[in-house]
Amino acid sequence: PVDLRGQIGPITLSSYLFNASGPRCTTEQELIKLGRSRSAAVMTKSCTLAPRAGNAEPRYRALPLGAIQSMGLPNLGYQAYLEMLPRLKQVGKPVVISISGLSLADNTTMVSAFMASSADLLEINFSCPNIEGKPQLGYDLTQTRQALDTLCTLGDKPIGLKLPPYFDMAHFDAMADLLQQYPIAFVTCVNSVGNTLVIDPETETAMIRPKGGFGGLCGDYIKPIGLANVRAFRQRLPQRIDVIGVGGIKTGTDAFEYLLAGASAVQIATCYEEEGTSCFDRIERELGQLLQRKGYASIAQAKGQLKTLD
Ligand code: DOR
Repeated sequence: PVDLRGQIGPITLSSYLFNASGPRCTTEQELIKLGRSRSAAVMTKSCTLAPRAGNAEPRYRALPLGAIQSMGLPNLGYQAYLEMLPRLKQVGKPVVISISGLSLADNTTMVSAFMASSADLLEINFSCPNIEGKPQLGYDLTQTRQALDTLCTLGDKPIGLKLPPYFDMAHFDAMADLLQQYPIAFVTCVNSVGNTLVIDPETETAMIRPKGGFGGLCGDYIKPIGLANVRAFRQRLPQRIDVIGVGGIKTGTDAFEYLLAGASAVQIATCYEEEGTSCFDRIERELGQLLQRKGYASIAQAKGQLKTLD
């Protein structure tokens, strides 16, 4: 049997796959269900200081090769997640809290609170594209530096950053150069591809209501973007920082491609939204069979082993 354990900083995961922040991870019931599934960790929906209902509907549309959404961070507010943490921890797997403050002050309050909790890891979301008037932090190097200067001093629990996709080698270089100056444990690449537009030509209408139809693109469409971002950061960051892959993983083969690119673990979003918790068993089984057929004994053996043509 192939050793499919994944890694995030100091934490070894029972498998290579867990849920991404976003789909079906907002309520306690959904999180407990994740805890009882084959997901290797329980990741929460990004929380904000106050509870949020999110953007107007329709705000999620499934598409032939994925989805477009502008959810607007609907969540119960960080105190609800603090309060349910002891019960989430009882399922016996790592709990990752996703934090998405609307300001540095909000992030400081929430990171401080979860540093003093039983959470295993914090993933700070620097890349939500769907809040009007709030640009994606990860596209602003100055603000990213300011945020990390504060957030990295608030406690010893391992923290990671959820990054937006980058599309230029100069941007990979600049962001990796900045990140390696901080004691972060991981980066998660990528959030949805922000501010895309999908049109229904029949009705001549945008697919979703918020922001005049602009929303985050998800699923198969963005797998090559996710792979490129994982690869680019794996090549640029020191080994002490794990790269977690997300974007269009719905088969064992997709997960294997992220492994070749250098991912220490992967997250499932759109496929989990569409399929439910059975996706974790299925993709884990497919990945195990593929690695076995290729003669790999473990995740570690294949990680980052991508071949290039020159
Ligand atoms: O695509 C996204 N949608 N990324 C986020 O970080 C937040 C989410 C939402 O709630 O809009």
